[in-house]
Amino acid sequence: QKPIKVALLGCGTVGTEVVRLLTDHAADLTARVGAPVELAGIAVRRPNKHREVPAELLTTDAQALVESDVDVVVEVIGGIEPTRTLLLQALRSGKSVVTANKALLAEHSGELFEAADSTGADLYFEAAVAGAIPLIRPLRESLAGDRITRVMGIVNGTTNFILSGMDSTGASYGETLEEATRLGYAEADPTADVDGFDAASKAAILASLAFHTRVTAADVHREGIAQVSAADIAAAKGLGRTVKLLAICERVSGGGADRNDTANASEFISVRVHPAMIPRTHPLAGVNGAFNAVFVEADAAGEMMFYGKGAGGAPTASAVLGDLVAVARNRVVSGRGPRESAYAALPVRPMGQT
Ligand code: HSE
Repeated sequence: QKPIKVALLGCGTVGTEVVRLLTDHAADLTARVGAPVELAGIAVRRPNKHREVPAELLTTDAQALVESDVDVVVEVIGGIEPTRTLLLQALRSGKSVVTANKALLAEHSGELFEAADSTGADLYFEAAVAGAIPLIRPLRESLAGDRITRVMGIVNGTTNFILSGMDSTGASYGETLEEATRLGYAEADPTADVDGFDAASKAAILASLAFHTRVTAADVHREGIAQVSAADIAAAKGLGRTVKLLAICERVSGGGADRNDTANASEFISVRVHPAMIPRTHPLAGVNGAFNAVFVEADAAGEMMFYGKGAGGAPTASAVLGDLVAVARNRVVSGRGPRESAYAALPVRPMGQT
């Protein structure tokens, strides 16, 4: 069987783990896919910084690598450009794409889905939301025959580490953020995490898939955790509650712009990220440290909860590899995964039913 050739764009923490898993699990991957999965090249900015991967695979020319005769492009560079252009180019030439890029998907999923559907290429992105936790595939595939009404959960590990740390030690926001930075959870500039931008991107992706509509990060009502004080946490405790940064995506039916306005009944989507006081008996209250957990409610399936490691090189690489197996297998059988270019344009409003 002809090998499936893979271009890897980026080789940071996640990319290095992708190379390791591809190498260590080569025989298993061949068995799962039905053809060998071959790494054709790795595009990086500074080749001399990547001694842990085969030097002959490294290139600084990402565009030439995407244009070469590869079957799949795996993107773990992050950022909007040049990634957007490279991935559109790959999809428009019929190459399958696996990406972990939540910021890109939260802004440009529409044009990426359309590019994929224009050639029948696969676009998979399990690693973009909640790291290792299988969540995107269940929303796009397992629940494709159901009607999802709500997706709600903890999708940012850094802020959950900070809030659960403040809850267990009584320490201040600043002290706990310092600890998160020291342990490598928070970035040197943790703004994307603590101000809720990272969670808002993930919420936009989840809402778009769950409700078959288009939501961008800018549509998401967003509040971060920088204003949460030790006194707030103590007050929550006194009420038998704890504070969590929640991403909430809801399908709201039967109301107009004002949901009590039944005269203008319609359906809308509410997508928001904000700190919330939840009862300590709630399953999300027990999700501590850098873990993520997401509730999904659907008409026929009822309630489900997904829990696990939402960040880190190896967990994120696990999700990337799962996608790579799926798209490679699709190519072997000349099939393809879910289509997303058909959607209903539902209005997005900041507040929902809760
Ligand atoms: N900064 C993110 C988090 C990484 O803390 O969850 C995973 O997207």
